[in-house]
Amino acid sequence: MTEKRENWGSKLGLILAMAGNAVGLGNFWRYPYQAAKNGGGAFMIPYFAALILLGIPLMLVEWNQGRYGGKYGHGTLGPMVYLQAREGASPKVARILGGLAGALALGVTVLLNSYYNHIIGWTLGYAFETATGGYMDKAINTGEYFVKYIQSPGKVMVFWLIALAVLGFAVMRGIQKGIEAWAKFMMPTIYVFGIILIIRTLTLGAPVKPEWTPIAGLNYIWSPRWQDLNWTAALAAAGQIFFTLSLGMGIIQNYASYLKPEDDIVLSGLATVSLNELAEVILGGTIAIPIAYTFLGPEGLGAGVGLSFIALPNIFRQMAGGQIFGTFWFLLLFFAGFTSAIAMYNYLVALLEEEAGVPRRVGSVLVFIIYIIFGLPVGLEPILTKTAELAYLTELDNWVGSYLLVILGLLEVIVTGWLLGLKGLDEMNKGSFWKVSKTFYNVFIQFLTPVAIIILLIFSTRDYFKAGYFKWIPSFVEKTPQLVPWVLSARFVMFAVLIVGFIQAYRNIGKKYGQEIIEGKVLVRRD
Ligand code: ALA
Repeated sequence: MTEKRENWGSKLGLILAMAGNAVGLGNFWRYPYQAAKNGGGAFMIPYFAALILLGIPLMLVEWNQGRYGGKYGHGTLGPMVYLQAREGASPKVARILGGLAGALALGVTVLLNSYYNHIIGWTLGYAFETATGGYMDKAINTGEYFVKYIQSPGKVMVFWLIALAVLGFAVMRGIQKGIEAWAKFMMPTIYVFGIILIIRTLTLGAPVKPEWTPIAGLNYIWSPRWQDLNWTAALAAAGQIFFTLSLGMGIIQNYASYLKPEDDIVLSGLATVSLNELAEVILGGTIAIPIAYTFLGPEGLGAGVGLSFIALPNIFRQMAGGQIFGTFWFLLLFFAGFTSAIAMYNYLVALLEEEAGVPRRVGSVLVFIIYIIFGLPVGLEPILTKTAELAYLTELDNWVGSYLLVILGLLEVIVTGWLLGLKGLDEMNKGSFWKVSKTFYNVFIQFLTPVAIIILLIFSTRDYFKAGYFKWIPSFVEKTPQLVPWVLSARFVMFAVLIVGFIQAYRNIGKKYGQEIIEGKVLVRRD
């Protein structure tokens, strides 16, 4: 099994696949409304601070963990974390840390993707609706249209299944012929669509009011509104950095595990960050908000997550060429989501392949079935409850898509920075075109990054308490009792997946490294 692991076919393919892993719905769908809601230009201060303090160091840590684990034939987080942790802790303790990391990564790849896949399905469905003129009649209320869409079993399930099937097909073909080939097509297309949409946005003029122009929209997103800059905004910025760079998910490590032991990681890791930030801050920031501002003014920007699916469709039917540009927009979202979901999908296939000896083909089909099972509640809730609150999705997103990423990030940086220690610096620099300096490693990876994550975790926990997320019946469903069972089921599923994930990773580490765990000293080495 370990001898036959695939590698990336080319440097370009690797960089595009990694950029695809990071560039996702987070860049085009989540970032614009986070920035608009949390102080505009003022949001960019905690955002860039988090990028430097958390994003870049963690990206390097994750590439390093992945390549290190790949050398031992592992593509999943449990054994990867074990291997680094055993350098500074006893193999027994390292096994527990590996178990925790494996549990959290399974939580993300099963549960985050269970709703992420649905959103990708919506984007594909909306690309179809836009291209075929579904909501182009101005008498239609696009808010109601969206609610109807997510309550329509035919539409929701069909596009979701198509998206899942294409993902499964791509993963089945393997790293080079599947993931790399799709990234080489989809990533350049995302940037091209993005640029076309930016040009269209900037040439919209002022069709509604003279002061509502795309440039005024850009001003809105870039001028600092200091009154909105507070802890909540800072936490949102840090959370956005985790989400957008795919950190604390285990999927950067999974992709890095297909590197050869001497392949560069420092420059490649930084290239991933740069391509993601280009797609987020420049493309993501220059399309949705300026379009919405031009047609709806500052008031129209409060649409939150509805920005992409409610406010923009309302505009596409008013603007010249809107049907074409709208289709581009939803295809761009689909491609972006697809290249991230494929990484989560591959993580699970690698888990089955490497830890249970399941062939990739069979594993891809099994993961397809797993995603159907775990994604069903997300799709069924609006249909069965006739609401559009998406309580099951919200509960999963609050924990798996936000809080748990930070916990896993903390565990990872402690394992590399403190337990692997300075060996981690040598490991990072092996084969690298650019070297990480000892000062950067000491100051950031060993000190500032863990401290910043601990602070983030403390304040996030406080905010979660305040928002009532820790309550048996969280505040956001207090007034809708019919949704309480959905939230409780989400919690049950979450706990079950985390427990299964821990047991699986813990046992698997025991199976592979049992002897050294018993003897209490490192026996297996591939340096
Ligand atoms: N990093 C991925 C995104 O931004 C998960 O959507």
